[in-house]
Amino acid sequence: MSHENPMRLLAASLVTCGVALVGCQSSSHSRPAHARETAPIPMDAHSHAEPNRVRVENVSLDLTVDPDTQVATGLVELELARIDDEAPLVLDSLALEIDGVTGSDGTPREYELGPPDPNLGSALTVRLAPQDHSVVVAYRTTRGCEAMQWLAPEQTADGTDPFLFTQGESIFTRSWIPLQDSPGVRVTYDAEIRVPAGLTAVMSAEQLGFEYGAWHFRMGRPIPSYLIALAVGRLEFRPLSDRTGVWAEPSVVDACAAELEDTEAMVQSAERLFGPYRWSRYDMLVLPPAFPFGGMENPRLTFLTPTMFAGDKSLVGLIAHELAHSWSGNLVTNATWRDFWLNEGTTSYIEQRIMEEVYGKARSDMEQLLGYEGLVREMAGMDPRDTVLHIDLAGRHPDEGFSDVPYEKGALFWRRLEQLFGRRTFDAFLHTYFDEHAFQSITTPEFEAYLRKHLLDTDPQRAARIDVKQWLYEPGLPADAPVPTSSALARVDEALKALWLAKTPAELDTQGWVTQQWLHFLEGLPADMKVGQMAELDRTFGFLQSGNDEILAVWLRLAIAHGYAPADARLEQFLMTVGRRKFLQPLYTELAKTEAGMQRAREIYQRARPRYHTVSTGTIDEILHWSTKGSD
Ligand code: BES
Ligand code: ZN
Repeated sequence: MSHENPMRLLAASLVTCGVALVGCQSSSHSRPAHARETAPIPMDAHSHAEPNRVRVENVSLDLTVDPDTQVATGLVELELARIDDEAPLVLDSLALEIDGVTGSDGTPREYELGPPDPNLGSALTVRLAPQDHSVVVAYRTTRGCEAMQWLAPEQTADGTDPFLFTQGESIFTRSWIPLQDSPGVRVTYDAEIRVPAGLTAVMSAEQLGFEYGAWHFRMGRPIPSYLIALAVGRLEFRPLSDRTGVWAEPSVVDACAAELEDTEAMVQSAERLFGPYRWSRYDMLVLPPAFPFGGMENPRLTFLTPTMFAGDKSLVGLIAHELAHSWSGNLVTNATWRDFWLNEGTTSYIEQRIMEEVYGKARSDMEQLLGYEGLVREMAGMDPRDTVLHIDLAGRHPDEGFSDVPYEKGALFWRRLEQLFGRRTFDAFLHTYFDEHAFQSITTPEFEAYLRKHLLDTDPQRAARIDVKQWLYEPGLPADAPVPTSSALARVDEALKALWLAKTPAELDTQGWVTQQWLHFLEGLPADMKVGQMAELDRTFGFLQSGNDEILAVWLRLAIAHGYAPADARLEQFLMTVGRRKFLQPLYTELAKTEAGMQRAREIYQRARPRYHTVSTGTIDEILHWSTKGSD
């Protein structure tokens, strides 16, 4: 314990006035009526916390966000459940500067910051006084903050103001808030966020308004820490229905609202299938293109990439996906990152069901088949141990388990159960599963036990036709995995067969093709195409001018693979502006295959890297053998 350090004691006592304020605010909120998890929390290899001894139950943030220094400074009050009276409070922290810790009475507490683990960061251990039911930590973020991405005005749509967003999943929240950063630990939270004049703060919580120079928020339902999220920018809001809406920069907000007009219909479909939407509002935030994901399911406020706005609603499967997380992921949460498939596989399955309800079976069939083909392609090059749903991540960052497997193999598992038991029985099971696990975190073995009791054991004859242990705990795709079919994509296969042999691109019947068909077409093009053929395809179909970033990204990858130089400038522009990892990874991987390509990739990356989020640089650094030792 480092209580000898007088500076720390001073800093800790300085924050006591803040303590009273934060403490008073949070105590005015009564405990949510939802069932608290009283059962022991499963061991999490990716957290230092010991929540079965002392557990954080509510987080109260008081933060000042400064885009000039790119630092967030402030206080966090953590309300505690003391299970073992003797035990210290153990928190996760990564690259945070801790200024002091005080107890319930506002006096300093001894604390110690443990040695940093490169993946997990440092344990922050606080010695509690017997009467402590809360602590306040005064802290600031540093340049090493992995969750926050600070954007310069030129990285935004309007180019007038800076922008900040956080990305918590998987274990990044600890780099902007010291807390118990395990998805098995659920907390309610409130926040006061101070930002420069003219900017708006939004969070994954109810926005209570702007008062006394700060934006106020409250999330009254217990959520895992990775879902605490903040964004700050010049933002406007457009309502879409009485409970859905969109935040975006002023110049794009109306176009975004038009593209998202079916959101309310999606919420209603999901409710019909799987039970009530339990988060009151469903709003969305459109981020600048540097956002590293397609979407992030922050509760009440999905974060979205602007690359999904194709102008024709063809990429709104992403909304169905993030919305589906309001049941699978946010309501019922993976207890550890080994159980990530429970979040993403279930969500991908529900996404397909929502898409079928709102846009019809043909659309959902196409998307399922595209997903399946992507899975098969990716699995061919994967280490078999990473093709297990209940993946072993010991000693690794959770991000290393990221692939199509938890998404697509997970969804196929659900599809197989649906097929076996029939929609009526299966849908009722899933609906009850959500009800009975609402606001809880569960592991794969817990899920398996529930599945056996409430579905498999009710019909042993059908249950005998699936090997659940193989699906959950063994590598590869089981032989009974349902293979999706799509007649719309079969028509594309016909065109691909005729291409070059019988017909030129101009002679193909592509009338009325939709985005999913074009994607299938591009993925199905022969591996040995010549530059002249690429040019002819581009002349005929204008891929390089596509306003659809999914199509453009595949075309750019093919351009690299086949040495199609007219795409060079567009590729560079794309890599300099778009930070979405799903697009960057294949492009840099393709470049890195040749010596000249690798050189070009590293030259572009040198300039682009400061514009990417750590989620993306983590992946691209590896592809390009980028060393960050010594400097960043
Ligand atoms: N929760 C994920 C994003 C994520 C995954 C963040 C792993 C951190 C670690 C989100 O719901 C997601 O899956 N996004 C996809 C959407 C797609 C599958 C429709 C994406 O970003 O591409
Ligand atoms: Zn997801």
